Amino acid sequence: MVGRIVISAVDWVVHHIWFSDIAVALSSIFIFSSILHRLTNKGPMLWPVMGIIPTVFFHMNDIYNWGTRVLIRAGGTFYYRGMWMGGSYGIMTIDPANIEYMLKTRFKNFPKGNYYRERFNDLLGGGIFNADDESWKEQRRLATFEMHSGPFVAHSFQTIQGLVHQKLLKLIEKLAKSGDCIDLQEVLLRFTFDNICTAAFGVDPGCLALDLPEVPFAKAFEEATESTLFRFIVPPFVWKPMRFFRVGTEKRLKEAVRIVHDFAEKTVTERRIELSKAGSSTNRCDLLSRIVAIGYSEQGKNNNFSDKFLKDFCISFILAGRDTSSVALAWFFWLIHKNPDVESRILSEIKEVLGPYDSNKEDLSQRAFTVEELKKMVYLQAALTESLRLYPSVPIDFKEVMEDDVFPDGTPIKRGARVLYSIFSMARIESIWGKDCMEFKPERWIKDGELVSENQFKYPVFNAGPRLCIGKKFAYMQMKMVAASILMRYSVKVVEGHNVIPKMTTTLYMKNGLLVTFKPSCSSGRKTNGRTSSFALVLYNIYELMNFTHQVCTYNVKFN
Ligand code: HEM
Repeated sequence: MVGRIVISAVDWVVHHIWFSDIAVALSSIFIFSSILHRLTNKGPMLWPVMGIIPTVFFHMNDIYNWGTRVLIRAGGTFYYRGMWMGGSYGIMTIDPANIEYMLKTRFKNFPKGNYYRERFNDLLGGGIFNADDESWKEQRRLATFEMHSGPFVAHSFQTIQGLVHQKLLKLIEKLAKSGDCIDLQEVLLRFTFDNICTAAFGVDPGCLALDLPEVPFAKAFEEATESTLFRFIVPPFVWKPMRFFRVGTEKRLKEAVRIVHDFAEKTVTERRIELSKAGSSTNRCDLLSRIVAIGYSEQGKNNNFSDKFLKDFCISFILAGRDTSSVALAWFFWLIHKNPDVESRILSEIKEVLGPYDSNKEDLSQRAFTVEELKKMVYLQAALTESLRLYPSVPIDFKEVMEDDVFPDGTPIKRGARVLYSIFSMARIESIWGKDCMEFKPERWIKDGELVSENQFKYPVFNAGPRLCIGKKFAYMQMKMVAASILMRYSVKVVEGHNVIPKMTTTLYMKNGLLVTFKPSCSSGRKTNGRTSSFALVLYNIYELMNFTHQVCTYNVKFN
């Protein structure tokens, strides 16, 4: 009986309902639910089945500014979900109170989490960047202690100074002579890669040699991070089978990780042998050597850290310090190009810090800044801080939710969800930074000639709370040294018509790089013969006078 009813029902459907009817019905449901969502939700459009993905796709070319507009419309926080069965859902927020709650007040409830760890595990293993709980605590204690130790600070300063003078400035000198343009972002990426490897491993990979060679370790590191990021874009049911069958990005990832790990393992093994022979008489002060040395007892027996621990620790450091300060510098040079009054003030400050000099005795082009001199460059530091506010190296960060919770703005959040916070958007919010939030104004960081520090949760550029960036001091030292050393000698001109836009990745790279040319600046103080030297002096004075007049005009315009 039942069978007969089913058969006649199917028969009726087949004869009375056409495929087009089904398509129309499904489309109507789709359109209705989309309109309903649009009317009841101030956040981004979330599509049936595909979630936020089509919306993100439509705005791919202007993703950060679009995100800012949606966050403003939604009042600072919105819900999102990814593709059906992708397991990605949660909120995005820019509310400093929510960020403080997550990064400090309820720190334990918002770890990096399994979602992050699973994706970064092949490259980072258990390194600090990928760890939570006790493992993170131990590495954090160790890293903080070592990075703030006198020998490491002195060593890293020498490393920065050496790289700037022996490599970076030499390369720029060559480019200035030839008049060729170059991608400054690429040059800076090479600089920071060599710098962080020398500081963390005690090995200079040589990316910044004059002929800008392709270095397999650096290339593999880049490939490994880019392929890992693919795992954040597609759902696990896509990247996991790809990993299993070793195809596409997963194949490239496997190969790149092998090169990175081989290099790290070899370095760790060689360093152990070297240090066990040299004992306490070693003068190596890089992070790896210092941590290996901690493990040696008086008898020279190592019993503390495994090779895997050391390898993971150093790789995490390289990842953390590799690109962040180079992209920050690239945006800084671009902003300086667009704001010549800021450049003039930086140059005046450098001149003031250097004090009067006798051009017959001292060759300023060879002059290297000391730590004390860099510390005195308050305006330069303010300009870098302001540049990082507008273009944070990590534009969006996220945490995972351990247990159901409610944010200070009343938003409830479920266990397993993710909380994204847009540091890029925070800089563009009037209620956080005031009406002039869109302006590049280093002055907002200076009061009575001293640097003012902002609330960490309003400015989470270096993260905030217990996981605050450990390399912040190192990064400022490095960025100030590079910026001051270049600006003192060269005028950096961005090639006309070059399109500067951000790239959509976890680090805020410039999508098309930063094409520039270098011209020796009047204040570079190059040694010349007496005649040209006095001519240069006249030119320099005219230049200074013009700068001064320009500054006075600019300030009048600004403050009137
Ligand atoms: C302008 C330069 C830099 C910026 C903007 C920056 C920003 C950040 C941010 C946002 C985080 C948190 C990431 C997260 O947990 O999701 C972080 C963590 C970290 N940074 Fe930096 N960083 C910079 C330079 C450096 C440098 C040069 C080093 C190394 C010498 C470094 C070492 C670290 C380490 C080890 C962590 C992990 C801390 C932890 O999880 O406890 N950073 N940084």
